[in-house]
Amino acid sequence: MHRIILDTDPGIDDALALFLALSSPDVRLEAITTVGGNVNVDLTTYNALALLELAGRTDIPVARGSNRPIVRQPMYAEHVHGDNGLGGLQLPEPQIKAIDSHAVDVIIEKIMASPGEITLVPIGPLTNIALALRREPRIAQSVREVVIMGGALRVPGNTTPSAEFNIYVDPHAAHIVLHAGWPIRLVSLDTTMQAELRREQVEMLASSESPVTVAIRQMLAYYFDVFGPQNGVSAFHMHDPLCLVAAFQPDLINWEPSFVDVELHGTLTLGETVAYFGPLITQSPNVLASVGVDAGRFIQLFLQRIKERFA
Ligand code: RIB
Ligand code: CA
Repeated sequence: MHRIILDTDPGIDDALALFLALSSPDVRLEAITTVGGNVNVDLTTYNALALLELAGRTDIPVARGSNRPIVRQPMYAEHVHGDNGLGGLQLPEPQIKAIDSHAVDVIIEKIMASPGEITLVPIGPLTNIALALRREPRIAQSVREVVIMGGALRVPGNTTPSAEFNIYVDPHAAHIVLHAGWPIRLVSLDTTMQAELRREQVEMLASSESPVTVAIRQMLAYYFDVFGPQNGVSAFHMHDPLCLVAAFQPDLINWEPSFVDVELHGTLTLGETVAYFGPLITQSPNVLASVGVDAGRFIQLFLQRIKERFA
């Protein structure tokens, strides 16, 4: 059993990652912690609650986290995910509320209560994770693994030519997280850009007209009809669902040890993840970097599990 804390900024691909977690018998979602990223933390928290209620999983605690990066000014991605973060999908007002504890405290409490048991899966900016490390550095020795969606190692960025969104929003947090000395799998654009979901696959999935699959179709309709044509994109890149899979089925991805650091001072390259591989490595590797993926197998796993659980 993979006991997972999902730190997230829903976000359309975050929502798909959440549904995949809820469809996976080998995953136990210990908590959801929210962070500002795709949209502000009020909305990411609202979305997390509404998505859990839609999926019938109001038993999973949601803890609200940071709305702004540690140093930089906040920035969001409504142009990608719509103003409400879910492509305009209107879900019923959630009856459940976020718990009183802050996301940072929930991350610390759960990791320290079960040494070696908890996998931390950040799929948004890393602000909560960095603050948890500063508040309780011992989580670095107690966590089972940290599986991060972020970075662009040997491929261009998606927010600047050199930086991926989650890292670019809070590069200072990313620096703290990358240098904490804990076991990291880094699922970067190098692999997530190969994990493409096509519209016809979404239509097939939603043919059952079940609430969750219809919601998936509605969220992705925004992406396919609005963001896609404006940006010459015809497939949906499954950044966060691929990161989640890496937490419980890492063999779908090829991994390579790497030393990865993040640029904090570059005028043009702020947030760039600079990766040293092989003979270039001068320091101990700090991540297992995702360098290849069986994208077909991953997409089939995603569709199969969502269909079995929610169709
Ligand atoms: O760059 C992709 C990442 O940024 C994904 O986690 C997406 O949800 C956004 O947060
Ligand atoms: Ca995300």
